[in-house]
Amino acid sequence: EFISEIKGISKLEESITNRLGIKKTIIIPSQLQSDTDFVNDMAKAAGRYFLSEIKGHKTIGITGGTTMYSFANCLPQSKKQSEVTIVPARGGLGEEVEIQANNIAAMISKKLNGNYSLLHVPDNIDKSIIESIISLPQVKSTVEAIDNIDMLIFGIGNAEDMAKRRKTSFEEFELIKKKGAVSEAFGHYFNIEGEQVHETSTIGIKLDKYKELKDIIGIAGGKRKAEAILSIARINSNLVLVTDESAAQYLLKLT
Ligand code: G3H
Repeated sequence: EFISEIKGISKLEESITNRLGIKKTIIIPSQLQSDTDFVNDMAKAAGRYFLSEIKGHKTIGITGGTTMYSFANCLPQSKKQSEVTIVPARGGLGEEVEIQANNIAAMISKKLNGNYSLLHVPDNIDKSIIESIISLPQVKSTVEAIDNIDMLIFGIGNAEDMAKRRKTSFEEFELIKKKGAVSEAFGHYFNIEGEQVHETSTIGIKLDKYKELKDIIGIAGGKRKAEAILSIARINSNLVLVTDESAAQYLLKLT
């Protein structure tokens, strides 16, 4: 029974990879599991894949969120020193401090014995303020590091859930909905076609930079995130998706 389950999962992985037209899919079985169990299992699987691919990478971008927190938490402690720098791909985002990208960057770099940069920039700041903040030396060096990201590991959110969690204003929330946003990742909101419809006003990775990346690992599971995953998969086909069975089954229905 175990063997047939594994066969079923690898078939499902193959179908999702083909339907979404992405590089690779890793699926965690999700029956009879609580929410936190499947997130940890996804995080562990993503960690194993990440460690197998880390060689040759210098600047690794990461994002915030509960899934990425679990990723950092589950990553094994390395005994060796590492030359990599972990960089938050996006500032602020109005999250609880534990799940902010800065904290997660520090956690991951400690697990790898590497280095990290921090980005001390809040959310929803005026364009003119962004320009002056960018010129601060500490921010400038992190912005340069973001431009040099050669691998990105990120969480994918359901657009409405994320807008609510980040205490977006009523007007902005309505705008995001009206524009048909289904997903949010690294502070950008996208419609089902993978077109950007909104961007949180802060400092962080640009969409063009994301589109050029060769090594990207997106971690997201649960039926509620299926549409969001589909939308993100359409932006850059180099995506390696780490998800769970329930999201995968729903994705089959959507594609
Ligand atoms: O941008 C996406 C979110 O960070 C995902 O957050 O992992 O807590 O669902 P989550």
